[in-house]
Amino acid sequence: MADIIVALDVPDAPEALRLVDRLGPELDFVKVGLELFTREGPDVVRRIQERGVRIFLDLKLHDIPNTVAAAVRSASGLGVELLTLHASGGRRMLEAAAGARDGSLALLAVTVLTSLDSDGLGEAWGRPEGANPSDEAPRLAGLAMECGIDGVVASAWEAGSIRRQIGSAASIVTPGIRLEGGAAHDQRRVATPSRAVQEGATHLVLGRAVTAAEDPQVALAAVRSEIAGAVGGVR
Ligand code: C5P
Repeated sequence: MADIIVALDVPDAPEALRLVDRLGPELDFVKVGLELFTREGPDVVRRIQERGVRIFLDLKLHDIPNTVAAAVRSASGLGVELLTLHASGGRRMLEAAAGARDGSLALLAVTVLTSLDSDGLGEAWGRPEGANPSDEAPRLAGLAMECGIDGVVASAWEAGSIRRQIGSAASIVTPGIRLEGGAAHDQRRVATPSRAVQEGATHLVLGRAVTAAEDPQVALAAVRSEIAGAVGGVR
């Protein structure tokens, strides 16, 4: 079954640990991002792991190959399971990262940030005519796979085309998940848990749909039971 990862989008360790404890035994995987890691560092990772919870470290690495490879080795030493880096760092960076990870760490490529539209991407890449994210994302996913990266982060809306590009073995980690009828917040391209799984997601990132729910434990259980019933929910 697809893994459910709860995003710990909180500023500090006390809040992160309160959320982990509140979610209780339903929780087995969390995402630690730049905000929390920049403030608390590896210590918060260890404290979450002490509670038996697995970690996706969402640092979106992007630097020269030597530096990224060194950061991947550091993350391998933390015992985290998933780590992100930008596919646009290029072939040499991706290959260096893949060569530096130990067996238990999976690397995920971020293709095109969902905050970039065609004009924004065209401007950043020097293409005045614009660059279409829905063409560039599968292309970059393919590059990452050629370099030995284990999977990608993608919205459920792109997951199907990316799955066709990268084959069945790779992981697809999908944020922007909302239960039917739930608020979209600032996300534009949201999908339900069952839709994401049907499109080929292997891991779903749940943020506010769980953490801002009246009872986060109940919301998490609802996501789990929806996935269990979804066609294609078994890997
Ligand atoms: O609260 P919500 O479900 O929107 O949170 C989604 C999480 O996934 C946040 O941590 C957000 O930064 C992350 N994310 C995303 N869209 C991406 C990549 C990451 O929403 N394309």
